[in-house]
Amino acid sequence: MFFNFSVKYLTLFIMKKEFVSFLIICIISTSLMGQQPSGQPQGTQAPDILIGAGTNNTDLIYRVNGRDGKLYQAYLGSKLNETSALLKARDAGHQAYPVFGTGNLFEPALRMTHNDGNTSLELKYTSHNSEKPDPNVTLTNIVLKDPVYPVEVTLHIKTFAREDVIEQWVEIVHREAKPATIFIYASSMLHFDAEKYWLTQFHGDWAEEMKIQESELTSGIRIIDTKLGTRAHMYQTPVFFLALNEKSDENSGEVVAGTLGWSGNFQFLFEIDEKNSLRVRSGINPYASEYSLQPGKKFRTPSFIFTWSGQGKGTASRNLHGWARNYGLLDGTKPRFTLLNNWETTYFDFNEQKLSGLIDDTKKMGLDVFLLDDGWFANKYPRNNDRAGLGDWQENKAKLPNGLGYLVKEADSKGVKFGIWIEPEMVNPKSELYETHPEWVLRYPNRSEVYYRNQLTLDLSNPEVSEFVYNMVDGMLAKNPGIAFIKWDCNSMIMNPYSAYLKDKQSHLYIDYVNNLYNVLDRLRKKYPHLPIMLCSGGGGRVDYGALRYFTEFWASDNTDPLERVYIQWSYSYFFPSVSVCNHITSWGKQTLKFRTDVAMMGKMGYDIQVNELTEKELKFSQDAIANYKRLSEVIWKGDLYRLVSPHESNRAVLMYVNESKSKAVLFAYTLNSRYGEVFNRVRLQGLDPAKTYKIEEINVSTEGRRMGPSESGRSYTGDYLMKIGMNVGSATPLTSAVYEISE
Ligand code: DGJ
Repeated sequence: MFFNFSVKYLTLFIMKKEFVSFLIICIISTSLMGQQPSGQPQGTQAPDILIGAGTNNTDLIYRVNGRDGKLYQAYLGSKLNETSALLKARDAGHQAYPVFGTGNLFEPALRMTHNDGNTSLELKYTSHNSEKPDPNVTLTNIVLKDPVYPVEVTLHIKTFAREDVIEQWVEIVHREAKPATIFIYASSMLHFDAEKYWLTQFHGDWAEEMKIQESELTSGIRIIDTKLGTRAHMYQTPVFFLALNEKSDENSGEVVAGTLGWSGNFQFLFEIDEKNSLRVRSGINPYASEYSLQPGKKFRTPSFIFTWSGQGKGTASRNLHGWARNYGLLDGTKPRFTLLNNWETTYFDFNEQKLSGLIDDTKKMGLDVFLLDDGWFANKYPRNNDRAGLGDWQENKAKLPNGLGYLVKEADSKGVKFGIWIEPEMVNPKSELYETHPEWVLRYPNRSEVYYRNQLTLDLSNPEVSEFVYNMVDGMLAKNPGIAFIKWDCNSMIMNPYSAYLKDKQSHLYIDYVNNLYNVLDRLRKKYPHLPIMLCSGGGGRVDYGALRYFTEFWASDNTDPLERVYIQWSYSYFFPSVSVCNHITSWGKQTLKFRTDVAMMGKMGYDIQVNELTEKELKFSQDAIANYKRLSEVIWKGDLYRLVSPHESNRAVLMYVNESKSKAVLFAYTLNSRYGEVFNRVRLQGLDPAKTYKIEEINVSTEGRRMGPSESGRSYTGDYLMKIGMNVGSATPLTSAVYEISE
């Protein structure tokens, strides 16, 4: 409701900094003349209203313009001392959620066709309110309505004060006589007015995920999107940095880090208009996805999650990590298991005896879980390669005559836990499931099937199929309650986007698939709230915060060559906390075991190697490294990450984690290459307490390969010294590494 006062500027609340997100300032301006907002009697001037949705260091402020009753984004950036000054601006800002057809000549956030064929919308502010789900979190809901058609759009803005993170999503509902069609339905539209805009984006493919590119945006439209159906990430990743005015680096520059919580087709659209203003639209990719919305049924978009930093990408990453651990990732602050996986050592070729040996190896290494990968199921078409068996989730009698239960017990008797691989959304054409239920499979009835990894995707838009997926997982867990870990894989995109179930609503497929997958995961999580599950998708193909609400970690890439992994893990670290990134030590690459171990240790470490082929020295080195990892994992998983030397700018990579009390840090240094005579200078550390004195100790020391260069190991320095003068790390020898424990 608009207030009918005639005072010039009236500030209703001046709140403390940490509660500014709660702030509502109503300003009544008599100086502004013009069109009346909806419902406003002729001749009176509605007040302008400011609606703040800020965090400790950021303000996102909307303004309801009294002249036209519409909602504008008045400000986004570093915290303002006085928000009411925004009302002095002659221009209300940019329309917060612009629509199609009523004067907007650029990309809309929402486009819809009504029952009568009319294609226009106009959204006017109706009301807003705030909720406080916890002292750190404020949820602001702003309701907009069309004055001509019964369409209501609610913008939800959830702010996380301490983490400086903002989450936005939108709910759309109409009460027309018949279904109306929505064509574009953004989660968020943000506006920027800077001199220049620098976009950092991430792209790749199987085994080459997260390659980084930075470029200046030019006028017109740039789109980053995918159309893969079952996952967001693979060719393009649903994350970006947007630097304003100048390029940002780790410690300087204004930068926004954004990501979409959606495990299907996503789209980020960047449009620079004729005035050099930039709009950033984030949401589900509207590609082939017009959605027919029943009257009264709410359409909820996924969340766009972003943080604004005035101190570069380092702060932006730490903000997102903090948010993810506390809110975005399942059990983000809880410990994780270390594990031995058998995929790269056995592939499909194993039996009970071999697995029993691997369970022994898990124990011998000091790891928590033995994880049995693909190949344990199917009888009519045994899963002995990736061409058969997917969908038939009964233990293969030749490989596992005594079933999974036997292996669970075997693991238990040896003091380790048992984990299992599944890929429940998929089917091989050579399977009993396909034979019995061809109608459950996404495929065109009148065309030949197109395969990716010899498999097809099940039609999760069909409730019967989601029920099958739920029952398959639930049934396995009910039968084997000792299963302590799951790896949930998804190796194909939607190659044949046709659902027998959806009939004339084929354009719902991409959206219904993901929402029904989330329903399955919701139900499973109600029953098994804390079971650790690794999210995997033929390499790093399904990494997004929509899915990570249900998963404790993700498989970053099938490429485990440690040289490649330094770059891949570096890129993930911009948006995802180390506790979620699974890194395994395998036999890829020719590097030393020490190098492979040190690289895996910067995140969630695991193994996928032939333990029985390790020499005695290597075994001892690994056991010690695992013990070090367990001792330091709290710092690595929960500490603040400082990326000190980038592999993209140097022949080495150096990063460190510092715990909250700044009493302990772990530093990782990797020398990737070196030119003749190249000098690697001291590295200045970050995040320490200048007044504290720290002892430096090199850990994971190995005599394997060439030794490291000058080392400060064993010495003590103040935090001030280490941050201003620095320390020597690693050596100039290519493919060597060093890990330092830095203790108060
Ligand atoms: C793809 C995964 O990324 C691998 O780790 C492995 O689990 C295979 N699938 C199994 O088919």
